Amino acid sequence: MHEVAALPWPVALAYLVSGILFILALRGLSSPASSRNGNRFGMAGMAIAVGTTLATHKFLDMAEILGAIVIGGLIGFVIARRIAMTAMPQLVAAFHSLVGMAAVVVGAAAFLSPVAFGIADPETLQIFPVSRIEMGLGVAIGAITFSGSVIAFLKLNGNMSGKPIMLPMRHFINLGTLAAILGLVAYFVTDQSPWIFWTVTALSFVIGFLLIIPIGGADMPVVVSMLNSYSGWAAAAMGFTLHNTAMIITGALVGSSGAILSYIMCRAMNRSFISVIAGGFGAEAGPSGGGEPKEQRPWKRGSAEDAAFLMEQAENVIIIPGYGMAVSQAQHALREMSDMLKEAGVNVKYAIHPVAGRMPGHMNVLLAEASVPYDEVFELEDINSEFSQADVAFVIGANDVTNPAAKTDKSSPIYGMPVLDVANAKTVLFVKRSMGGVGYAGVDNDVFYMDNTMMLLGDAKKMVEEIVKALD
Ligand code: TAP
Repeated sequence: MHEVAALPWPVALAYLVSGILFILALRGLSSPASSRNGNRFGMAGMAIAVGTTLATHKFLDMAEILGAIVIGGLIGFVIARRIAMTAMPQLVAAFHSLVGMAAVVVGAAAFLSPVAFGIADPETLQIFPVSRIEMGLGVAIGAITFSGSVIAFLKLNGNMSGKPIMLPMRHFINLGTLAAILGLVAYFVTDQSPWIFWTVTALSFVIGFLLIIPIGGADMPVVVSMLNSYSGWAAAAMGFTLHNTAMIITGALVGSSGAILSYIMCRAMNRSFISVIAGGFGAEAGPSGGGEPKEQRPWKRGSAEDAAFLMEQAENVIIIPGYGMAVSQAQHALREMSDMLKEAGVNVKYAIHPVAGRMPGHMNVLLAEASVPYDEVFELEDINSEFSQADVAFVIGANDVTNPAAKTDKSSPIYGMPVLDVANAKTVLFVKRSMGGVGYAGVDNDVFYMDNTMMLLGDAKKMVEEIVKALD
């Protein structure tokens, strides 16, 4: 058993403080009202962790490291400033791939110079058995995270079809590959031959790819969160290899919070985590789940003036934002519209579905950006019973999250997902660009054809601006 020197107390204390700041960051990020502070805690924690590591390690070339930090920081800064909110899921997937690759590269460096990393006997050059396990697992999880995240990025970015790609005998191939990886990591403990290390790495890259290609676009958010969790575990494993407490703590926090988020999202979509991971959801995406073909069903079209009139007369209006609001950036106009309605004595609330938009909290972020008061924004379970007392449900760019087929049609790909009961409102105003456009799951929506629904066809922002003009 090799001994690891205890950290000097100031270093241990600094890492502890950074760990506490990360926990406060997660706590802050759990609500839109405290999320800015959460981010600040996270940034402070990371600055302390990186600063402490730089100050307490001997580096051959500090300029090289600082140069890399500046270049990486600048790239991150520019991307973060430019990225559209709607492209955030693929950006997160791309960043996870980097964490995975970093774990692989660190693992490879430790394997090639184990003495420099303090994980081998300097005389026999034998890597300590416990370090071999940490290194093997870290590299395997890192490689899976990398290739899985690259596929998730390509699917979300539209470079690859979002449809599941089903290989024949895929469960058999996947289980076999996973068993081979675990077997080789175990064998690595007894034999540190390079072929074992590199085979584990190569097989892990392959399994990351194989695990994600059969997963359909609709399940991608869960996958991104799961890969986030993996990237945390990879970092924690590498923290053991590098004897770095801050990395172990941070990796464990990322690993566990990502796993919890995946679980929450599965619950919001009423999907079992195992069935998501087993893949295949969304294969049948197409205009199903909405009863008769849409062309043959009558529907009513309204104008901005009609909408303004109906809402002005209403006592209670519930606004349901979705992906289309994000695409057209209608949140500021929407806020203006609801301010005018409130001035006219209307009670306005916002109903947020947990998977509205394309990432967790997507709608909350956009509404907060437009300074919509937090106390007007309600989660599904808190507001769903209020639709029956609402005069108007104003659906803006949402679709799947309002689709009653999720409750009634077992053949629908969204069957089982809890939905907002907009159909219970006296009138439903449904903003979208055309009758042909479908939501993420690719299915028709019976709400369009209800007697109490008025379709407001057009770009969400333009439509709301016209309603604002009409209210004026
Ligand atoms: P969707 O079901 O995707 O519907 C979006 C609607 O917006 C469509 O009806 C579309 O119709 C309309 N639209 C698009 N651009 C518009 C524009 N410029 N102006 C007006 N309308 C526009 O959105 P949703 O209800 O928010 O549901 C989210 C879906 O995404 C769920 O299926 C969920 O599972 C999935 N998903 C969620 C996440 C997370 S974590 N939030 C991540 C990935 C996927 P037109 O084309 O006719 O305009």
